Amino acid sequence: MYRSHTNGELRIENANQEVTLSGWVQKSRDKGFMVWVDLRDRYGITQLIFDEDRTPKEILDKAKTLGREFVIQVKGTVIEREAKNKNIATGEIEVLVKELTILNEAKLPPFTIEDNTDGGEDIRMKYRYLDIRRNPVKNNLIFRSKVAQEVRNYLSNQDFIEVETPYLIKSTPEGARDFIVPSRMNEGEFYALPQSPQTFKQLLMVGGMDKYFQIVKCFRDEDLRADRQPEFTQIDCELAFVEQEDILNIFEGMTRHLLKKVNNVEIGDFPRMTFEHAMKTYGNDKPDIRFGMEFGELNTVAQHKDFKVFNDAELVVGIAVPNGGSYTRKEIDKLIEWVKRPQVGALGMVYVKCNEDGTFKSSVDKFYDQEDLAAWAKATGAKAGDLICVLSGPANKTRAQLSALRMELAERLGLRKSNEFAPLWVVDFPLLEWDEETERYHAMHHPFTSPKKEDMELLDTDPGKVRANAYDLVLNGNEIGGGSIRIYDKATQELMFKHLGFTPEEAKEQFGFLMNAFEYGAPPHGGLAFGLDRLVAILGGQETIRDFIAFPKNNSGRDVMINAPAAVSQEVLSELNINITLPTE
Ligand code: AMO
Repeated sequence: MYRSHTNGELRIENANQEVTLSGWVQKSRDKGFMVWVDLRDRYGITQLIFDEDRTPKEILDKAKTLGREFVIQVKGTVIEREAKNKNIATGEIEVLVKELTILNEAKLPPFTIEDNTDGGEDIRMKYRYLDIRRNPVKNNLIFRSKVAQEVRNYLSNQDFIEVETPYLIKSTPEGARDFIVPSRMNEGEFYALPQSPQTFKQLLMVGGMDKYFQIVKCFRDEDLRADRQPEFTQIDCELAFVEQEDILNIFEGMTRHLLKKVNNVEIGDFPRMTFEHAMKTYGNDKPDIRFGMEFGELNTVAQHKDFKVFNDAELVVGIAVPNGGSYTRKEIDKLIEWVKRPQVGALGMVYVKCNEDGTFKSSVDKFYDQEDLAAWAKATGAKAGDLICVLSGPANKTRAQLSALRMELAERLGLRKSNEFAPLWVVDFPLLEWDEETERYHAMHHPFTSPKKEDMELLDTDPGKVRANAYDLVLNGNEIGGGSIRIYDKATQELMFKHLGFTPEEAKEQFGFLMNAFEYGAPPHGGLAFGLDRLVAILGGQETIRDFIAFPKNNSGRDVMINAPAAVSQEVLSELNINITLPTE
């Protein structure tokens, strides 16, 4: 038996018991006649004591050789500590050691295994197994496990069944590139790793599975960011015989269940917002509604004077920054520089200080009088003491720029509080989205999403105006889930492919299997998928999903610990019939 108790378990009630403990040496203090060791495992830390009077000499001597992160086993007696540590659960006791076994020695770790470590990101990723010993990472993984467990509890109680779908498949389009896998047995042919199990879950509905879920890995070859990994996990769900309302209710229920069980937070009904409203009011289809700073459109109150920049713009739009009126000229100049950075891309920013006495001072006083500026304040909801920031230009671009500024200012002002949760549904997304590069429409969600019946006739005349039965769940400014009611008849699916620029042959070649299935009694169905990594990170009060993944990839898609991706030998390539010349060393 390696251990009778864990290192987080013993209390004063256990005094005088004989125990066996195992774990890692967190640190040791050698006073000559006495050695203390902090013994750590997943559950906590227990202090060990070795002393001249009560510990056999050879054991005390051995204790003096212990280094950080040695793996040891001890046997001893639980005793009350003289100097109690109120900060840890085991702080009232220590274990007086009688036997010590060194199970394994350890090299000095390349960074300290402490909550605040001295190791930078790169070195911690290279030695991720050591990083996982640290409380912040360990606790995130335990937290993730708890969320996943609660998801399973909730969905199982609602009669969902968990079904696994294959990883070696044919492309499922979700808007990213596929990772492809060569097939040795089928020369010159490739599998794609799923960007999601979308088509399979729809086929499960045709198969009568009715309520499906799966906690499943998805793979997307796309540019990486704090909230994106090339392989990530979805809570993927699909239901038959449901309408949008049924789906929103079930998954609002699941999110509420998680917030209650995991965060002990009770939330009422989730607000619903149309895509159009979200874009107009927040410039963003995943608005953070924990704070105001809503957009005020100023075209009617800013395009009647001689200010050419505004007069020429499709949209003039502003936000009120709470208490920003006190910003110095230098601070405002910095903000202007910030919006002009290439990542944001604004050409400039007009500002108005709302003075405490009710007057205004703006960067465009030459063109606008107090009455004009008062109208701007009204439109943006600015109060005395606030600062109004105004951007102008093409509508979509300008909205995106002002949205970036809104989020940045909210971050700086501490308005994005990690322990406050503001979920909402964004509904009525457009079905199609114009792509400037390829000069054609793309499915905004994916090609299996159904258009709204009442908009169907616009498909031929004004495709960009057609709304979809699609919805996203947004939490604190992050898209944590999305889904739709699906097309379930062959004719509509074919029509959809046509509008997406597929020839009938291409559609048949790629998705014939799905359209065939629709001819054998496909029920009406719909569903959604949550991004588990994002959900867990946000419930955990953070936004970087890497910190909640045991073995994440870096921003270049590399696993620096195992060094992947890596070259393979010429033999392997030949077996796969891949003819590329390997780079010479
Ligand atoms: P969608 O593409 O919106 O929908 O993905 C669902 C959710 O998955 C998360 N997500 C990601 N998380 C981390 N890294 C990524 N690279 C990444 N990409 C997406 C997001 C997103 O909301 N099959 C559809 C769902 C459906 O229609 O039922 C789908 O995959 O949180």
